[in-house]
Amino acid sequence: MSFPAFYIDNFYENPEEILKIANNSVFLQPDGHRPGRNSIPLHISNPEFFSDFCSKIFSIFYDLNNTRTEWNVLTYFQKSECLDLNPNSPKNMPWIHKDDENVIGGLIYLNENNLKNSGTSIYKLKEGCSWDSFDDDRPPIAQYRYQFYKYGVYDEEKYIKRIKENYEIFEESVRFENRYNRLICYSGEEFHRAHSYYCEEPRLTQLFFVKMINSDCALPLLRKSI
Ligand SMILES: [Fe+2]
Repeated sequence: MSFPAFYIDNFYENPEEILKIANNSVFLQPDGHRPGRNSIPLHISNPEFFSDFCSKIFSIFYDLNNTRTEWNVLTYFQKSECLDLNPNSPKNMPWIHKDDENVIGGLIYLNENNLKNSGTSIYKLKEGCSWDSFDDDRPPIAQYRYQFYKYGVYDEEKYIKRIKENYEIFEESVRFENRYNRLICYSGEEFHRAHSYYCEEPRLTQLFFVKMINSDCALPLLRKSI
């Protein structure tokens, strides 16, 4: 891991301004990676805010005035409603997965009401369990997610069996609760999931994915070895 998992409360100085931008955003059709809709990426819809956001994120890791640092970031607002009115329905159970095409992933929670059971946890594989053998064995979980979140295709028996198998190979390692204006961030190699897709009001977040970082300063956890 080259980047630590962490959270920052009160990330935005004026979160109400960010909410205005979010609420004025155009949201697209579901992309199939998760429930709900993503806004048009911010580098397209609001380049000035995008630039300020990236500078704020990378200032956490680098002195941007004294290092040459380049990045490739995708960020957008994400709005989702629960997938079943029953909080315990398997449809509301998020899959544990990793997004290892990214160097860093993260989000900012933007519901002023601090949605309960709607944060994010990081997971570790249990001793002796293998992600590759789990995910290569049968249709990969991306296929279940895509078919359900994009097209509503849902075979309850198969879905429940597979998601239970998904949960069985992991143990929770770090738990972040959903708090208004809280940023959470983790390495792309970390397994994670939202706690539940059940929510009493639409869950609003700003997701971000760092695809590339190139800097003349070493990665945070590689700067000093002891
Ligand atoms: Fe993810």
